[in-house]
Amino acid sequence: MKLQHQGFNLTPEAYLRREQPDAPIYFLDISKLENTLVQFKSGFQGMTTYAVKANPNPLVLRTLIDAGIEGFDVASVQEMQAVRALSSQVRLHYHNPLRSMREIEIAKQFDISSWSVDSVKELTKLGALPKGTEVAVRLKLQTKGGAYNFGEKFGATETDAIEILKYVVERGFEPAMTFHPGTQCEVASVWSDYIHACARVAKAAGIELKTLNVGGGFAAFRSSAAPEMVSVFDTIHQAVDDAFPHERSRLVCEPGRAMVADAVAVALQVKVIRENGDVILNDGMYGALGEWRDIPKLADRHLALYDIAGELKFGPKHARKVYGPTCDSIDCLPFALELPDTIIEGDYLVIQSMGAYSQSLCTSFNGYGGGEMVVCERITPADTGLVEICN
Ligand SMILES: Cc1ncc(COP(=O)(O)O)c(C=O)c1O
Repeated sequence: MKLQHQGFNLTPEAYLRREQPDAPIYFLDISKLENTLVQFKSGFQGMTTYAVKANPNPLVLRTLIDAGIEGFDVASVQEMQAVRALSSQVRLHYHNPLRSMREIEIAKQFDISSWSVDSVKELTKLGALPKGTEVAVRLKLQTKGGAYNFGEKFGATETDAIEILKYVVERGFEPAMTFHPGTQCEVASVWSDYIHACARVAKAAGIELKTLNVGGGFAAFRSSAAPEMVSVFDTIHQAVDDAFPHERSRLVCEPGRAMVADAVAVALQVKVIRENGDVILNDGMYGALGEWRDIPKLADRHLALYDIAGELKFGPKHARKVYGPTCDSIDCLPFALELPDTIIEGDYLVIQSMGAYSQSLCTSFNGYGGGEMVVCERITPADTGLVEICN
């Protein structure tokens, strides 16, 4: 599969008009995805990898490979297979630190360049690895800034990290450290805190880090609190200069959300409008909108309403309760949506910035979920029919 730019003159409106889909449909803007990669590659002084979990769609992976991404953070055998089906060259970083013995054995067939660990036990389980393979100790700190606590499940304390790092070197692996500030992290100083902590660990262990991986966590959706990407990069580079004045480890980042979120919009159809005005969509909390329950502020983004002929709909708006299609009453958006009064069954809601943790979190509960991805020349409306979601 080789993607080409010529010929992608499809727009969401044209697609809706032609196909009138009754299943969710995801629109991908390849140029937006490429531009975001360029932003990382030109602004971040290190290697940019992509966390496949955010969106493993082959169109996304293919676009990033064609645009020259160097590596992928993979968390499972399936994610390794997804990347290796498209490239035997790119680096794979297996940065899910908890693995079964079976997963470890299979992963060894995929030419993994870096493994993360957060305990001596899990490091021992890795057994023999090719000479020079990187092993990154995953650190956890008590920090706030991400949408939820990424230190809850993974990560070694500073004290434990010192011992693990020494063991990495004893085993003959290339010493590295990694952390994750928490997804949708809105406080740039969290990166700085982690980088200084990694420097303390390395110094206490008497080890020069070959690589420092500063994780994902870059905010895709910029509320007033979330810093611009360049200012996060500046904070990271300054912290590295301050914390490692004598040696400069190779830097790596592994964004998921920030890489792909804005490159994809989803179209959901209005299945039913109840007598009381409630709206039932063809996908909801068990599908494309699942993350809105955990991170409701991510829903503070734009949507547009189209009729079945792909025409934008305008008019006065009122707040409506919105449900997904399943038989479960908690399949309900945790806030009302301001929607035009002209809304009728068969219309489409096209929601922007749905590239990350949307398609990848879909379940098939009640037989719903899923949905194709199509490439469009743009994914935002040509006209200004945007309405604000009310929450
Ligand atoms: C190890 C690792 N790296 C990168 C990411 C991507 O994070 P984000 O999507 O917040 O950029 C995750 C997300 O869970 C992760 O666990």
